[in-house]
Amino acid sequence: MTRFTVNNQPVEYRLDPQTPLLWALRDASNLTGTKYGCGTGQCGACTVDVDGQARRSCQVAIGTIEGSYVTTIEGLSRERNHPVQLAFLAENVVQCGFCIPGFVMAAAALLRRNPDPSEQVIRDTLTNLCRCGVYPRVVEAVQRAGRAMRGEEL
Ligand code: FES
Repeated sequence: MTRFTVNNQPVEYRLDPQTPLLWALRDASNLTGTKYGCGTGQCGACTVDVDGQARRSCQVAIGTIEGSYVTTIEGLSRERNHPVQLAFLAENVVQCGFCIPGFVMAAAALLRRNPDPSEQVIRDTLTNLCRCGVYPRVVEAVQRAGRAMRGEEL
């Protein structure tokens, strides 16, 4: 039995402790906003927040995060969309959308640590992959979200 918290709810998984967090979230908790892209830690589609850090959930065995706090895209904001989500909409970032939850989770974690990241920091930190090539708009959206989180109008 592995116990931790997902989106502020305690969870218990009767799964092999080596089970990737990605599959516990998707298959056991039906939190399908976290996507499976490569399964090898390369693409970032599976990014979630674990104890304040953006982690690639396909590479995190549930047995290693006993007692941790996990946040998925479904739990990022309880009342309304998170500023990162609103900024992604405002900048028309989304094309096919598959990679977007991972980008949003990585961006939210970055902005918590650094509310005013440079373009280079954003590009160096958000190493997620996008087949549609929306990278320039991601940079604009992250900077826009940062401004909003510092009190400017979105
Ligand atoms: Fe985890 Fe690609 S599915 S990094």
